[in-house]
Amino acid sequence: MTALGVGVVGFGWMGRVHTQAYARVPHHYPDAPRVLLVAVADDVPGRAREAAGRYGFTAATEDWRDLVGDPRIQAVSITVPNFLHREVGAAFAAAGQHIWIEKPVGLSAADARAIVGDVQVAVGFNYRNAPAVEKARELLLAGQIGNITHARFRFLSDYAAHPLGALSWRFERERGGNGVLGDLGSHGVDLIRYLLGEIDALVADTAVFIAERPRPTAATAGHQRGSGAPGPVQNEDYLGALLRMSSGARVTLEASRVAVAEQNAYGFEIHGTRGAIGWDFRRMGELAVAAGESYQDEPVRTRFTGPPDGEFGAFQPGAGIPMGYDDLKVIEAHRFLRSIATGTPQGATLADAIRCAEVLDGIARSAETGAWITLPA
Ligand SMILES: NC(=O)c1ccc[n+]([C@@H]2O[C@H](COP(=O)([O-])OP(=O)(O)OC[C@H]3O[C@@H](n4cnc5c(N)ncnc54)[C@H](O)[C@@H]3O)[C@@H](O)[C@H]2O)c1
Repeated sequence: MTALGVGVVGFGWMGRVHTQAYARVPHHYPDAPRVLLVAVADDVPGRAREAAGRYGFTAATEDWRDLVGDPRIQAVSITVPNFLHREVGAAFAAAGQHIWIEKPVGLSAADARAIVGDVQVAVGFNYRNAPAVEKARELLLAGQIGNITHARFRFLSDYAAHPLGALSWRFERERGGNGVLGDLGSHGVDLIRYLLGEIDALVADTAVFIAERPRPTAATAGHQRGSGAPGPVQNEDYLGALLRMSSGARVTLEASRVAVAEQNAYGFEIHGTRGAIGWDFRRMGELAVAAGESYQDEPVRTRFTGPPDGEFGAFQPGAGIPMGYDDLKVIEAHRFLRSIATGTPQGATLADAIRCAEVLDGIARSAETGAWITLPA
């Protein structure tokens, strides 16, 4: 089997996680297509070179364009900040190189739509890969909790709660887009669609709670403190939305990057006519299920995920052994490689990212006008 040549563009947090995921795929999926780490690009001087040395890429560069059309590279991870997704994604897709691109895929639905090419596009909506989420979907589709009536999805984080958190690209409209909408809201919208189907209409409100932050004094990666002169936060810290689903169900989505005391509090509670299902990312292997005949006073069971659920069996031999965040990326990498090998998309696609961006654009419009927004069919 010839190995598939891979490049990584942007070596911050996600660049590292994607790279490690490629390396781990054969450990968990012995029959998966083989990968060769060919090149890494990052514009911070020295960052790509250090990554190449540590993770085993053959080449390193500061200019991602060096990877476009390189015949040794058939697939590329795009893990740069949001404002670059469109330009970088469009260039590789046009060159016929498959892409695994991080969410939210650009700054708007128009950006996501600009990525065009006869290639596989996998998108980093990793929470749908959690075995408990896959199990929840199976139970919902099997009608185990009856018809879905209403649900709450929350994506709350404190990563920007400190007022001295640096004014990185994330807080600028031109480079970070719509703030927490694209950053955490996109994950929420993807999970809602994955579990409950399409969203028809919505009304939303948004807010900026920390209006100024210190500028960073050096190149940033991830979330760091700043000590430079203060500058304005240009995009949303918070969103609250009420969604009307095609099924008739009502869903609330709340996302915040400034929620003190909420560390990666991502999850949902879904109610049906006969039961309920709940999940919290921080207890990734536990699914709370109430599905009986009582209606009132129905007990809630904790179901630990195990080998039959989703991709759990590729990681651990028995129920209750915890999986981690990076495992979700190994699952995503494997699905990306299988998409390329089979020519059939597996997992979240560009179409999912475009629909998600349309919902987020709708949330921004509703917050501006105060009106209900009907989404395009
Ligand atoms: N799926 C998830 O759970 C998840 C989690 C975090 C981030 N993300 C997404 O991943 C992307 C990156 O986020 P991150 O947290 O890794 O950010 P980061 O700031 O840690 O890393 C971004 C990297 O891109 C590099 N970069 C910037 N401009 C570049 C250019 N012109 N050429 C080459 N490299 C360049 C930076 O130097 C940095 O190393 C974002 O789109 C973000 O939304 C997804």
